[in-house]
Amino acid sequence: MQTARISFYPDNRIGEIDPRIYGSFIEHLGRAVYNGIYEPEHPTADEDGFRRDVLDFVRELRVPIVRYPGGNFVSGYNWEDGVGPRDQRPRRLDLAWRSLETNAVGVNEFAAWARKANSEVMMAVNFGTRGIDAAREFVEYCNHRGGTKWSDLRISHGIREPHRFQLWNLGNEMDGPWQVGAKTADEYGRLACETAKVMKAVDESIELVACGSSARTMDTFPQWEATVLDHCYERVDYISLHQYFGNRTGDTRHFLAESVGMEDFIKTVAATCDFIKAKKRSKKTLMLSFDEWNVWYHSNAQDRKIELWQFAPAMLEDIYNLEDALVVGCMMIALLKHADRVKIACLAQLVNVIAPIMTENGGSAWRQTIFYPYLHGSVFGRGVALRTEVSAPCYEDSEFGDVPLLEAVATFDEAAETVTIFAVNRDLENALRLEADLRPWPDYRVSEHIVLEHSDKFATNTAGEPQTVQPHSCCETALNDGQLTAILPKLSWNVVRLSRR
Ligand code: AHR
Repeated sequence: MQTARISFYPDNRIGEIDPRIYGSFIEHLGRAVYNGIYEPEHPTADEDGFRRDVLDFVRELRVPIVRYPGGNFVSGYNWEDGVGPRDQRPRRLDLAWRSLETNAVGVNEFAAWARKANSEVMMAVNFGTRGIDAAREFVEYCNHRGGTKWSDLRISHGIREPHRFQLWNLGNEMDGPWQVGAKTADEYGRLACETAKVMKAVDESIELVACGSSARTMDTFPQWEATVLDHCYERVDYISLHQYFGNRTGDTRHFLAESVGMEDFIKTVAATCDFIKAKKRSKKTLMLSFDEWNVWYHSNAQDRKIELWQFAPAMLEDIYNLEDALVVGCMMIALLKHADRVKIACLAQLVNVIAPIMTENGGSAWRQTIFYPYLHGSVFGRGVALRTEVSAPCYEDSEFGDVPLLEAVATFDEAAETVTIFAVNRDLENALRLEADLRPWPDYRVSEHIVLEHSDKFATNTAGEPQTVQPHSCCETALNDGQLTAILPKLSWNVVRLSRR
């Protein structure tokens, strides 16, 4: 068996982990909203029509913030359609997903759902078909206390207290040719600058996320970021990154190495921000919002056959297997390794649409394989991320060069007196022995080693068999004389938890 070693020290920190890196995303797309979070006819529906079984899973995940309402959807969305009496709300063609939107759920319903889920809302404004005017009115409707046209309209809709949404996306993927109202970097940058100014004039407490490139493979990356930030650097607080991976060629080793590319992406965007900072002689360091990340490819072929203008069609319903869960685990580790710059991240998405939680219309809800690494990060990966030195055997990848068999990071929650090691064994055939020198942690003991594995890397959970892939505890993990030894099964996700005696 091969051995990998890691070391990390209490004072050698990458940075504070912003809890918002465990955010997620609900878009008006497919069955995310309708028959996902909202299904008034469902046996578990509450008084507002929200599925309690779904809410239970979301609360289990401890999702601190949920991005809404898009995604591509937001670029053609009129927020006014989704407020006021339900029976007067218009039915619209959603041009992004070519579906029917009834507007039965809008901003006020979503805010109510998020409260029940113990989550904040990350709201988005339409930069495709709209701009400054709609954005300022929307902020006034949501966040102003009252006594003005739009805040009084909210009050007339029965919402006396303002929502006080703190975080806002300035559009979505505006560099993408598929985007309704796509823009050049100069067009977008100018609009972002002026819209940000006006939105902050309405509510100076809000934070704003400018659109970065929709993927690092875009031809315009990273010039897009540089041009956009040249226009709006001082007016915005974050720039967005989006990244989806898929194993389209059946090359598991390459698929598992993709997180190395994700780290390059983060480093390049951070460097581009710092270039503009230097150019502008600015004192501000811009932070990153990785507000879409996941595996997405299983449903692509099926989605091309979907009939137009359906209400809540089953779109983007990837059913995830074990290897997808490992890639999600590696991606989450990548986010933690850059906790000093990545302050927001949203697993895209949360329910039914490329999601950790799935539902049947009228039936059960279940956890997909990717639910588990996301859960473990969110529940155990709090505090600070520690600089974790990894020394491991490598394999050669045509794109990424030497890729270590072990992907790992440690986190330290000082208040809870816990240390957590997140680790993926990328080896397809063999277990890996993990050794860690824990002498800098003399009072700590192993409290648990959680493993997610399966003999079949394509194993999935389904409505009928929801527990095929689920974590279990491993009891052979030992800590003797400050030396930790753990066995990481082939192709596995591992969480080694240590706590102070
Ligand atoms: O998450 C699904 C879609 O992926 C989003 O709507 C869009 O922003 C991205 O291309």
